[in-house]
Amino acid sequence: MATERTLSIIKPDAVKKGVMGQILARFEKAGLKVVAIKKVYLNAQTAGEFYAEHKARPFFGELVDFMTSGPCYPLVLEGEGAIAKNRELMGATNPNKAEAGSIRHDFALPCTDLSANAVHGSDSPESAAREIGFFFAAAELA
Ligand code: RTP
Ligand code: MG
Repeated sequence: MATERTLSIIKPDAVKKGVMGQILARFEKAGLKVVAIKKVYLNAQTAGEFYAEHKARPFFGELVDFMTSGPCYPLVLEGEGAIAKNRELMGATNPNKAEAGSIRHDFALPCTDLSANAVHGSDSPESAAREIGFFFAAAELA
């Protein structure tokens, strides 16, 4: 399997809970390297642009409100099969359905708002490329 890069976001709920370090440790323990990370305050425009693919979905407004409720930390992970590996570490979108040992199970429960599920992760090479470019300039990835 090839070395890949993928975008993760430590979402505002996980930042507020103070579990960022524990989440980063999960990535590192799984052999994924954090090659870039920054603190970002999304606003309605930038959050809406990032989640543009979900614009027509009923949860879009709630998701944008949540992502603008506090700082988040986008980061770039690198490693063998990083895109799929990160999705596996994250667990199911709904933390109530995520497997024990996954990030969403361990750090997003109890969960009533699906927007607050601790992390985001790119779902394909195409979205990884777009999402990395959304937050990071080439010089920050060198
Ligand atoms: P993500 O994009 O955040 O890595 O997560 P995902 O692929 O598992 O989920 P996706 O379908 O892309 O949805 C993006 C985010 O929207 C929120 N969501 N809310 N209320 C709902 O039914 C609902 N469905 C999804 C979640 O926060 C999800 O991470
Ligand atoms: Mg997604």
